[in-house]
Amino acid sequence: MDAGDVAAEGKAFYVTTPIYYVNDAPHIGHAYTTTAGDVLTRWHRQCGESVWFLTGVDEHGTKVQRAAQAGGVTPQEWVDRLVGESWLPVLETIDAANDDFIRTTSTRHVQAVQRFWEVVRDNGYVYAAPYEGPYCVGCEEFKLSGDLVPGEGDYAGEQVCPVHGRPVEQVAEDNWFFRLSAFGDRLIAHYEADPDAIQPASAYNEVMSFLRQGLVDISMSRSSVAWGIPLPWDDRQVVYVWFDALLNYATAVGYGAPAGSQQAERFASTWPADVHLVGKDILRFHAVYWPAMLMAAGLDLPRKVFAHGWLLVGGEKMSKSKLTGIAPSQIIDHFGSDAFRYYFMRAIAFGQDGSFSWEDMSARYTSELANGLGNLASRATAMVGRYREGSLPAPEALLPAEHSLVELLGRVAPQADARMRALDFAGGIAEIRGLVEAVNVYVTETEPWALAKDPAQASRLDTVLYTVCECLRAIAVLYHPVMPKAMRTLWSELGAEATLGPIADQRIDDVARWGQLPAGAGVTKGDALFPRLEDPA
Ligand code: MSP
Repeated sequence: MDAGDVAAEGKAFYVTTPIYYVNDAPHIGHAYTTTAGDVLTRWHRQCGESVWFLTGVDEHGTKVQRAAQAGGVTPQEWVDRLVGESWLPVLETIDAANDDFIRTTSTRHVQAVQRFWEVVRDNGYVYAAPYEGPYCVGCEEFKLSGDLVPGEGDYAGEQVCPVHGRPVEQVAEDNWFFRLSAFGDRLIAHYEADPDAIQPASAYNEVMSFLRQGLVDISMSRSSVAWGIPLPWDDRQVVYVWFDALLNYATAVGYGAPAGSQQAERFASTWPADVHLVGKDILRFHAVYWPAMLMAAGLDLPRKVFAHGWLLVGGEKMSKSKLTGIAPSQIIDHFGSDAFRYYFMRAIAFGQDGSFSWEDMSARYTSELANGLGNLASRATAMVGRYREGSLPAPEALLPAEHSLVELLGRVAPQADARMRALDFAGGIAEIRGLVEAVNVYVTETEPWALAKDPAQASRLDTVLYTVCECLRAIAVLYHPVMPKAMRTLWSELGAEATLGPIADQRIDDVARWGQLPAGAGVTKGDALFPRLEDPA
């Protein structure tokens, strides 16, 4: 679908992150998903589409309840403190431009969750039954027999959760069940007709094989848990935390709001989600349970669930419970938010696992950002200052060297667009980086510093300086979704802010049109966009 269709349909491009458990403070694994969503939505916004980007926190359940208990406060005090001190501030730290932030303890969510389950119960998909079986509090998940693996070390001889490496708890309680088994065939048919609805292909295959084994009904409530949303028809039980949390995607945009209200209009113009970004550990919830819930309530299904890989430490999923979590600020205080965003989107193929290392990040920062893009920007702005008193000269006739850059830009823009839309962030960045490298080569080969020494070459120098700055204009626009702060700075150094308006308003679908930066624009050289850094202590 192109931007025109979206506008005609009046449907916003709606992207979500998982809502994160507030048992602890965020680490870079959480920031990774939010960054990906932010890059994707900023990209679509700059294509002129109407966009809605949602993130938030998952506040109920045993895991949070126990963390609060261990901290000696009530669950509500615990979540209020962590959300205020850690989860909201981290969005600023990573420079996320989310449109909304949903908390599952908020009234708008609680009321809509109760309404939703009443609808599903009225539709005949909820019944009372006892549950007995394994439950992993780390995953907040009822485990099936095939889910557990043999433990190692302290847990040798026991069956453990494959994600947390710890034994699960045995639960026996009266529950209300969701008739998940009624939806297996419909889900298979849905995904066979639309294989792109689950990406990457490995995730699609995993879900299909799970579905083909047959679905069993699953508890939608808990009677032994107090910290949750009470069932409207049985206040001795709370909604099972996942069947509360998944609904955030609908409640945040107005599901259940009174007809005619602003929130109801939001729902009409936003639903269904275009992309649910999730870590691969929570794929089953999003690609099996969630669409089954929606079918049971008669709502449209999300268009895509994309399962990305894990940030690993020592070959294992980074996690606070294993004490391997790195806070985003530990990296951002040193490298800045732009380099953080760039690094994680560029160095790890989205959909695959990846490891973070200071050495790798430092090396890429220095070669690609400080020496590559940063150096190009400072050379270009300095030369316009030195040779043309800071006023962008008008270009004379373009020679083959310029034509090939114009053509390259003409190819890079649509290719980067295709890659970013496909959530291949590393591929999109590689396209833009290719342009940066080509412009650097152009500067080396045209030698503007030599042209400046020969008055007969004045108009040739004008053309070279213009070409470099015009390419930087395009690079700034294309990189803005990835590195908003640094590209805003570059934009104003190029004199583009004063002549073309705010960078966020620049259209990616128009970026390749040559000659947008007007001659006479005031070009200034500021501080280095990516200053050289000392090694982290
Ligand atoms: N609360 C649930 C999600 C409910 S969504 C309706 C949950 N929360 S979580 O805090 O445990 O993690 C959620 C997400 O954080 C993961 O899906 C993933 O997006 C991100 N990550 C957490 N650890 C991660 C890594 N080590 N690596 C990459 N992403 C990770 O599950």
